[in-house]
Amino acid sequence: SEPLRLGIAGLGTVGTGVVKIVRQKANLLAARAGRRIEITAVSARTRDKDRGVSLKDYAWEDDPVKLATRDDVDVFVELMGGSDGPAKAATEAAIAAGKDVVTANKAMLAHHGQALAEAAEAAGRVIRFEAAVAGGIPVIKALTEGLAGNEITRVMGVMNGTCNYILTRMQSADLTYEQAFAEADGLGYLEADPELDVGGIDAGHKLSLLAAIAFGAQVDFDGVELEGIGAVTIDDIHQAADMGYRIKLLGVAQMTGRGLEQRMSPCLVPDNSPLGQLEGGTNMVVIEGDAVGQIVLRGAGAGEGPTASAVMGDVIDIARGLRLATFGTPAGELAALKPAKGAVP
Ligand code: NDP
Ligand code: HSE
Repeated sequence: SEPLRLGIAGLGTVGTGVVKIVRQKANLLAARAGRRIEITAVSARTRDKDRGVSLKDYAWEDDPVKLATRDDVDVFVELMGGSDGPAKAATEAAIAAGKDVVTANKAMLAHHGQALAEAAEAAGRVIRFEAAVAGGIPVIKALTEGLAGNEITRVMGVMNGTCNYILTRMQSADLTYEQAFAEADGLGYLEADPELDVGGIDAGHKLSLLAAIAFGAQVDFDGVELEGIGAVTIDDIHQAADMGYRIKLLGVAQMTGRGLEQRMSPCLVPDNSPLGQLEGGTNMVVIEGDAVGQIVLRGAGAGEGPTASAVMGDVIDIARGLRLATFGTPAGELAALKPAKGAVP
């Protein structure tokens, strides 16, 4: 059968991770997908940059829109980031040109997911975004596939590794917020705009995407009640510890009589619970379904390998011919829910 041809825009942490997997595991991927997976073209801002991986076999495009619409690209892999700008323009162009899309871009989907899903489905294309939520944890596949027979009652969890690292270090090393923040910065954990992490915005993006899938609702990032970790003090951490609790930036999405509640905020969780014990940059997502009960998924929420792993899972699904609607439910059938902002006790 014909190979599946990828065009990759963005060759940073995640993009180079994807290139490495495609280069190093070609036979394994072909066996799993039933056809070869090839990269035909790549794009980034700077052409002459050592990225630790050979790009000599691939065509180069300065313009991601041109990359996304090339005749020799079947799947546009968007790994640039940013809610608007080139990521959105190239994704729209790819769909219009009849390409499927794989992206890790939670910001773009939290803001434009509904419109992009409608465009993709109208064009008979798919958008997959496993890497956008909780990095290497296959939480979207869990919700859209393994748990598709359930009515989901609640999705919650720790979805930003940077915040979890900062809060964990405050707790375990008795650091102030500023000291733990500086440590996270030194380790390169923070987004270019740190407010996306510590303001809870990145985690809020992820929660809004999970909520859309879990509850068959349109993505409603504006409906997420957001509070970051910037105001958490070492005194708060000590007081929580005295009571047998830890403070975590916890996201909760649940359906109530007042509508869909989505909240991302610092919460007390019991010290000895799985969430309380979650250390460092790890993520954890807890899903509750009427038939299955409670499922706990835990793992690396970021980083080259884990995030590229999720991207490749989506690529292989497309190579196998799996044609899932972007949010599990066709975009036209997603309910326009009134958010119940402020309703979570
Ligand atoms: P990086 O900043 O490491 O890389 C971004 C890449 O995009 C760079 O190669 C950059 O080019 C390229 N780029 C940026 N703007 C343009 C443009 N206008 N035209 C062409 N190329 C452009 O980002 P990450 O790899 O960390 O993240 C990529 C995506 O994955 C983001 O959406 C992010 O939110 C998401 N993600 C990242 C995770 C992680 O652990 N890093 C985890 C989960 C999701 P150049 O290299 O030349 O500057
Ligand atoms: N800044 C994000 C985090 C990256 O810390 O979780 C992964 O989405």
